[in-house]
This record gives sequence, structure tokens and C-alpha cells, in this order.
Amino acid sequence: MPNKLVVGLSGNLTRPSKTKAFISHIVAEVSSSTGAASTVFDIEDLGQSFPLARRIGDLDPLARSIVERLLGADVLVVGSPTFKGSYTGLFKHFFDLLDPSSLRGKPVILAATGGGDRHSLVVEHQLRPLFGFFEALTLPTAIYASDKDFADGVLVSEAIHSRVRQAVAEACRVAGTPRSVGLAA
Ligand SMILES: Cc1cc2nc3c(=O)[nH]c(=O)nc-3n(C[C@H](O)[C@H](O)[C@H](O)COP(=O)(O)O)c2cc1C
Repeated sequence: MPNKLVVGLSGNLTRPSKTKAFISHIVAEVSSSTGAASTVFDIEDLGQSFPLARRIGDLDPLARSIVERLLGADVLVVGSPTFKGSYTGLFKHFFDLLDPSSLRGKPVILAATGGGDRHSLVVEHQLRPLFGFFEALTLPTAIYASDKDFADGVLVSEAIHSRVRQAVAEACRVAGTPRSVGLAA
């Protein structure tokens, strides 16, 4: 995918962030498999105008430029830490500012992190319906990682790495860059 762009958005509210590291890892995998340029943002990158914004026009130029990068992406990788069984409020606030048709047909890899495995279906029960509302093309393999899958903020679980490879292969397929992949663990 030369001249294409993969963009990550992480809903973490604090740094350092396992979620941002996770999203960055997935974005880097898509980028290295496709040759696409890449960039990753989190909530803090959106700056001070973002939490108070009631509509897109309330955002300052930097936050607007992030929205435009995201809307212009050929593949999106979105994820959030699990807060109270769902994505963070400010992650949802970002998408509340977007036009309902703005993500139609966009390939999206869904990801989340959490403290344990109890809420691993957050990717299916919270994230997927949100992007269903936008008529985005959510890829079949959504990926959840918990605290035990990281060491010093780095993803160390081979099972999760395998799911990442599966999701990346799906992204390559829909973005026109076929790549073979083995069955997930
Ligand atoms: C306010 C709050 C609520 C949380 N709720 C949940 C939860 O419902 N389920 C869960 O598995 N983890 C929960 N956690 C743990 C975080 O999801 C987990 O530590 C996550 O990986 C943090 O990601 P980060 O490093 O990107 O901030 C919660 C943490 C906070 C601060």
C-alpha cells in the first residue's frame, strides 16, 4: 500500500500507556506488512480544546488536524483501556464529534486492554457496535490484551501476537495487499 496511511487512536488517559503501546504495535505491523505510512494518537495528543468541544468546530487546529488524519486513513487501528467494562469516556467523546457517515466502509482493527480477562468481550460488545453505528468495515479479528500479556509495557504474549498477525492479514486483504497467515493459537 505505498502512498497509503494507517492511523492508530488510543483512548488512554494517562501515560505511559499499555493501550497506546498495544495500538502502536498493531499499527507498526500493518505498516511493515503493507508499506503504508503510519501515525498513532492518544487522547492527550488532542489537547485542551478536545474535552470541552461540543462540536468539531470547537476543536483547535492541532486537534482538527488529528481528526483529518484519522478520517483520511486507509486503515484505522482503534483501542481503549477498559474502564468500567467499556471504552473510556473521552474515547467515546472523540467519536461523538464525528459525522455519522465519516467512517463508512473504513477498514478498522478493534483492540482493547484491561486489568484481567473478565472483560475481554469489550471489543465485541462495546467497540464493535460503536463502529457498526458508523458503518465502518470492522475486521473480524478483534484483539484484547490484559496486564499479564505485558512485561514492562511491552506485549509478550505469543497468543496475542498471533491474533495481531491474524488481524493484520485481514487488514492487508481488505486494503489490497494479500499476506498469508497461519491459524491463530
Ligand atoms: C477507572 C478505571 C476503571 C477500570 N475498569 C476496568 C474494568 O472494568 N475491567 C478491566 O479489566 N480493567 C479495568 N481497569 C484496568 C485498565 O483497563 C487496565 O489497567 C488498562 O490496561 C490500562 O491501560 P493503560 O495503561 O493504557 O492506561 C480500569 C482502570 C481504571 C483506572
